Amino acid sequence: MAQKKIIVGNWKMHGTIPETLKKITVMNRKMQDMPEVDVVLAPPFTALYSASVALQDLPFKLGAQDVHWEVEGAYTGEVAASFLKDAGCDFVIVGHSERRTLFNEDDEIVNKKVHAALAADLVAIMCVGETEEERNTGKTFERLEEQLSIGLAELHVHDLEAFCIAYEPVWAIGTGKVAEVGQVGEVHDWIRNYMAKQFDAPTANNTRLLYGGSVNPENTATLMKAKNVDGLLVGGASLDPEKFMAIIKTAAA
Ligand code: PGA
Repeated sequence: MAQKKIIVGNWKMHGTIPETLKKITVMNRKMQDMPEVDVVLAPPFTALYSASVALQDLPFKLGAQDVHWEVEGAYTGEVAASFLKDAGCDFVIVGHSERRTLFNEDDEIVNKKVHAALAADLVAIMCVGETEEERNTGKTFERLEEQLSIGLAELHVHDLEAFCIAYEPVWAIGTGKVAEVGQVGEVHDWIRNYMAKQFDAPTANNTRLLYGGSVNPENTATLMKAKNVDGLLVGGASLDPEKFMAIIKTAAA
């Protein structure tokens, strides 16, 4: 097992500032001291700063859902990595499949975003994963290799001391179809080996590998038992503080 386990709640485009703060308050009431697991909350951009103020002294970390690759400039609507840091983030999700499919982000863009995140001292959570068609036609590992080799281009061992990779099969996101534990273990093993081959064994072991896609309180224990699963990236179920806390407690156990 690599480092401390990590559970990330991706709240996507859900939540005004008051709604975000309310979820944090409810979760904090239920959260006992759980040092074995990093819990990262990723609310919408507009709620990040208020959340960071509310999270001071609470056992949660803050993450953003996306980042632009440039430092600053005429990029209407975009948010630079240093601004995320300024708003109190320590983590950022990069290359989520919704960004890839709905906003045309390709592997080269993901790579630029990863570089920007690391340059701003954010922990990047780079998402990879095959579509249903790629899985059905035996192209899962070909696609993962492409996503990883381009996504991690021009990165070196010293850049990856606190890196996270989230394996999120596109067909499992928001669909209720969770990947089987055998499929998750197979892919996570493959990613760990890939990292060891491309970088070195310590880097591979230090990279936290998360699974994401229809995670819920019922399937958490099974998923966390899969080999090389260091954590979970949770969408829908993380919006419900009861369910999210159940996931965190099960994963930490
Ligand atoms: P889901 O989303 O848990 O709702 O499937 C996961 C994700 O998009 O990261």
